[in-house]
Amino acid sequence: MSQSFDVLVIGGGPGGYIAAIRAAQLGFKVACAESNAYDDPKGEPRLGGTCLNVGCIPSKALLASSEEFEKISHHVADHGITVGSVKLDSNKMIARKDSIVTKMTAGIQFLFRKNKITLLKGHASFEGKGADGYQVKIDGKDKEVVTAKNVIIATGSKARHLPNIPVDNVLISDNEGGLKFDSIPKTLGVIGAGVIGLELGSVWRRVGSDVTILEALPSFLGACDQGIAKEAHKIFTKQGLKMNMGVKIGEVKADKKGVVVNYTDSEGKAQKLECDRLIVSVGRVPNTEKLGLDKIGLKVDERGFIPIDDHTCATAAPGVYAVGDVVRGPMLAHKAEDEGVLVAEIIAGQKPHIDYNCIPWVIYTDPEIAWVGKTEEQLKQAGIAYKAGQFPFAANGRALGMDRADGFVKVLADEKTDEILGVHIIGPNASDLIAEAAVAMEFKAAAEDIARICHPHPSLSEVVREAALATDKRALNM
Ligand code: FAD
Ligand code: NAI
Repeated sequence: MSQSFDVLVIGGGPGGYIAAIRAAQLGFKVACAESNAYDDPKGEPRLGGTCLNVGCIPSKALLASSEEFEKISHHVADHGITVGSVKLDSNKMIARKDSIVTKMTAGIQFLFRKNKITLLKGHASFEGKGADGYQVKIDGKDKEVVTAKNVIIATGSKARHLPNIPVDNVLISDNEGGLKFDSIPKTLGVIGAGVIGLELGSVWRRVGSDVTILEALPSFLGACDQGIAKEAHKIFTKQGLKMNMGVKIGEVKADKKGVVVNYTDSEGKAQKLECDRLIVSVGRVPNTEKLGLDKIGLKVDERGFIPIDDHTCATAAPGVYAVGDVVRGPMLAHKAEDEGVLVAEIIAGQKPHIDYNCIPWVIYTDPEIAWVGKTEEQLKQAGIAYKAGQFPFAANGRALGMDRADGFVKVLADEKTDEILGVHIIGPNASDLIAEAAVAMEFKAAAEDIARICHPHPSLSEVVREAALATDKRALNM
């Protein structure tokens, strides 16, 4: 007899594995199907999805290693520290990253055992619906048809590739190859000045690559507050990232000697970039291949996403939900996780809610960029009257002591009610500082609330408080 479950989750990424754990906590009999072995030496499907295997975690491990290298090579002298010649063993850096990934994915396996979640190893696809629920075929190390009353689709996304640019993940890479170069390329080309382009471009620049980024749009970091984007462009250019905006990519050729990218620059002139390696980071597309959606009456939208109800993540098929990168909204791990929890709780009859306006974004460059809520451009476009307060890290003792005084915090608050509408940070530890702003916005706090709350001294968080005070033109240390 086939196995049957209350909840079957398809995909073991942050949306899927978190949904499985929450559903198990709520007392359901749960299974999770995962097909991708990523780089597992035994070819066993690995949990953690893009995020743990080829995304957030490995990229942050490399960012940390490359940051240490850059700091020791160039920045410790100001502290009075003299070091001899600094060398980097890039294979060891990659091995360290791999061991973190292995540890984390093993950690999820442990959580699955702890929560009695059945891991189904193979590609899952809908076969249809019967009296006992949805029939889903598992095809891989496990081969069976299972039945589930509820199904959560968390199949994630994959890198978008460009026509005529064949990605082999050796010479021309997407996020997967860009995280495991076997040597440091002397010259690196990057197509796309988005999040991956900037993060991976920074990793390889810091360890010695000459990095050139080619971006189609004339403006930089369009989703960011443009004040922050301008500052970021200035700082990254000073660091040595060569950024060419408004280009049109033409023919790309790869041979043993490297890669040649022909492109037209923003003035329409034909240009050529010769590089040892190329990373293509031009966005991601949802994964719905061979999922059998048609067997249960579902269709993807024109961009390939699975349509869902905006509040419940329910699809048009009763009992089938979809979360994470495979549905609308930002492609972020924490957004996927929160939707996973939301759906498990909805299946259990609870009434959870996600405020998408309070989902923070982070770009892990140096300095980091982080924001939550609306940008100045969005507020202007919506005709909302606001006041802005800005405070630089250069006026903060902790930032100076850390030698991390680049950047600023900007707080945007409603002109009349003082409610915080957006917080934008470019600066040290922005990824952690933004959490205070997200909490404040979830609680519908006013700028005055942050301004009145005692912040530790000396700390970077004082810059957030000063920016809140600055919305009322009463920053204390400026
Ligand atoms: P995924 O993580 O993509 O997981 C989906 C899983 O489903 C995959 O393992 C896939 O193999 C499996 N699957 C698909 N179809 C089937 C099927 N039919 N049967 C069985 N299994 C299937 N986000 C952040 O918030 N912070 C970051 O710092 C960050 N850094 C990133 C860095 C890089 C280089 C990349 C590429 C992404 C990064 N992201 C980051 C984005 C983040 O990784 C994704 O938003 C997140 O992984 C989405 O989670 P998910 O569960 O929806 O999908
Ligand atoms: P992206 O959407 O961030 O950036 C893609 C860039 O490529 C854009 O600037 C776009 O204009 C440009 N582009 C598109 N087509 C092009 C072309 N033909 N020629 C030149 N430029 C072109 O996508 P990216 O960097 O691939 O990352 C994918 C997603 O992964 C992100 O949107 C984000 O959701 C997630 N991610 C999140 C991270 C984080 O939270 N820190 C880190 C890395 C990825």
